[in-house]
Amino acid sequence: MNAMNAMKPFILVTFLLVAVFCGLSSSDNTKGYHPCCSFPCQNHGVCTSRGFSDYECDCTNTGYYGRNCEHGTLWTAIGNFLQPSSETKHHLLVHNSWLWNLINWSDYVHDKLMRFVYEDRGNNIHSPPTHTSEHEYITLEAAFNRTHYVRSLPPVHKNCPTPMGVAGKKVLPDVDVLVERVFKRTTFKPDPLGHSVHLPSFAQHFTHQFFKTDYKKGPQFQWGGHGVDATNVYGRDKHDADLLRSFEGGRLKSQIINGEEYPPYLKDAPVKAIYPKDAKEDQKFALGHEFFGHIPNLFVYSTIWLREHNRVVGILAKEHPDWSDEQLYQTGKLVIVGETINIVITDYVQHLSNYNVKLGFKPHVLAGSSYQYQNQIALEFNHLYHWHPMMPSELYIDDETYNMKKSLFRTDLVVKHGLTEFAAAFTKQRAGQMTFRNHGETTIHVAKSVVLEGRQLRLQSFNQYLKRFNQQPYKSFIELTGDQELADTLEELYEDIDAVEFYIGILCEKRVERGKFGLGLLEIGAGYSVKGLLSNPICSPKYWKPSTFGGQIGFDIIMGSTLEKLFCNNIQGECPKISFKVPDEYMEKQKCIGTSCPKPDL
Ligand code: HEM
Ligand SMILES: *[C@@H]1O[C@H](CO)[C@@H](O)[C@H](O)[C@H]1NC(C)=O
Ligand SMILES: *[C@@H]1O[C@H](CO)[C@@H](O)[C@H](O)[C@H]1NC(C)=O
Repeated sequence: MNAMNAMKPFILVTFLLVAVFCGLSSSDNTKGYHPCCSFPCQNHGVCTSRGFSDYECDCTNTGYYGRNCEHGTLWTAIGNFLQPSSETKHHLLVHNSWLWNLINWSDYVHDKLMRFVYEDRGNNIHSPPTHTSEHEYITLEAAFNRTHYVRSLPPVHKNCPTPMGVAGKKVLPDVDVLVERVFKRTTFKPDPLGHSVHLPSFAQHFTHQFFKTDYKKGPQFQWGGHGVDATNVYGRDKHDADLLRSFEGGRLKSQIINGEEYPPYLKDAPVKAIYPKDAKEDQKFALGHEFFGHIPNLFVYSTIWLREHNRVVGILAKEHPDWSDEQLYQTGKLVIVGETINIVITDYVQHLSNYNVKLGFKPHVLAGSSYQYQNQIALEFNHLYHWHPMMPSELYIDDETYNMKKSLFRTDLVVKHGLTEFAAAFTKQRAGQMTFRNHGETTIHVAKSVVLEGRQLRLQSFNQYLKRFNQQPYKSFIELTGDQELADTLEELYEDIDAVEFYIGILCEKRVERGKFGLGLLEIGAGYSVKGLLSNPICSPKYWKPSTFGGQIGFDIIMGSTLEKLFCNNIQGECPKISFKVPDEYMEKQKCIGTSCPKPDL
């Protein structure tokens, strides 16, 4: 009894100590997390910590107010009421061809519409940029230090309960499990709109001029010029560009093989280039980008743009017999940039979007507006452009079938069959669909690294990005995917829809009506794309005039450019059919390995 009584104070003290200790440590835990981990600020409000456990939302210029910027002002409410949803807008754009033909019929109305599109899309991109992967808050580094990719959303704070902030599991799914269950192609899924292999080939060649990750420094760094500067044709810097020039008539060095014009061999223009050690001399070509000997598709596009440059400077030289090599070269480059942008908007994006409205390249409509002619490439743009599922696992050239993996660095295949045959074959063969379980074995490792890089740089969730780009976030897995089996898989892996990673959302989102992609990829990508193209210096009022491009003749080359002309003006003899879409007559004969090729769903 006595002993028990004597113990009482001791037990009490121990109990108190334990309680105090536990209490302290649990409040330490909440204090340890950043107060903005749950992204409490709505409607683009900016979250800042106030001490260790409180936050403040800055709602300036958002049109909202309140602790979490949750209340709209009257004007915001009216604006939202009048503003159709992205689904509605998309629906309008892929139907009603009569309306769009009518609009296309009047230059005045079409100009107004294009101006609206350029500004509306461009407005979603901060210009000058505000964030990089290094800081969760705004810095001047973002605007001044161009070695970074910029960010459209800052990274998730370092000390949060889960990698996505507060949503989802403490640990993200094993990336090898994602590869097996979400990425890997089992049967080839053809592109639903019937697009041809020209489309991903053009995409890859075009985008690598500004997606240039400096992997040695880290995935947040890049070595490009942040825009359409045609370095994919002319070389990475002055040193390489000079090696690629002939210094005669403004031309690039080239050589004739089998009667066709090709880039010079690497030994004749020793630029930076990546080839395997055992590559033969006649497989190693000197190209604008170190990586472009990698697959025959990139070599085809390198060759055709080289021919186009030499064709254009030939025309300019006739027009201006007094011009020096330098002036012809520099002006030719301006024309090539103009052609690139025009083809991208009026041919490539026209196909990607599947809109009925005619997309026009009309820089003059922005004259007098407050458009910012500057741009920096965002990491998120790079990630969403990982369109590797569009590449088929085999290339069908003539009567031969080349496994993609075995075609790496086989530039000699293009020389063997001829560029014309390759270009014809790309038109006939269907591209793959940008969707889940459609990454071929050649590029599966790229999908894996893009996810790992997204984690390293703490990208916010897919739903956060939808909100950033004025979309409704998805409420359930089935709403995201439209496919029960995939929804179940993702739910098992992520638990919470708000925890789905950016690239996974991009890949698994259900296809929008009559569309190639999900609405998220389409809406987010359109912002970066329009901003990137229209902010090019050549679109600004002091550049955009005929004299910049060698006179009306250069201007007309730009405005008349199409994918078909790019090839047909540079192919001798009869030009085969060239198109981003597989023509009907070849649709029937598709060899979609492992499955039949269903008819495109337009
Ligand atoms: C069979 C064809 C292709 C092969 C073999 C291939 C291969 C690669 C490789 C090895 C990388 C570097 C990845 C890393 O080191 O983490 C890469 C990056 C990339 N690829 Fe592809 N790719 C192919 C097709 C495409 C296509 C069709 C696109 C569509 C536009 C594309 C877009 C990209 C982008 C945006 C990057 C990031 C580049 C950078 O940040 O520097 N690729 N690809
Ligand atoms: C309408 O579309 C055609 C191409 O389909 C184009 O040639 C024409 O210039 C367009 N008209 C206007 C006003 O943009
Ligand atoms: C840009 O940022 C990188 C990484 O933080 C740094 O190494 C580099 O020195 C910076 N460049 C300039 C000009 O500040």
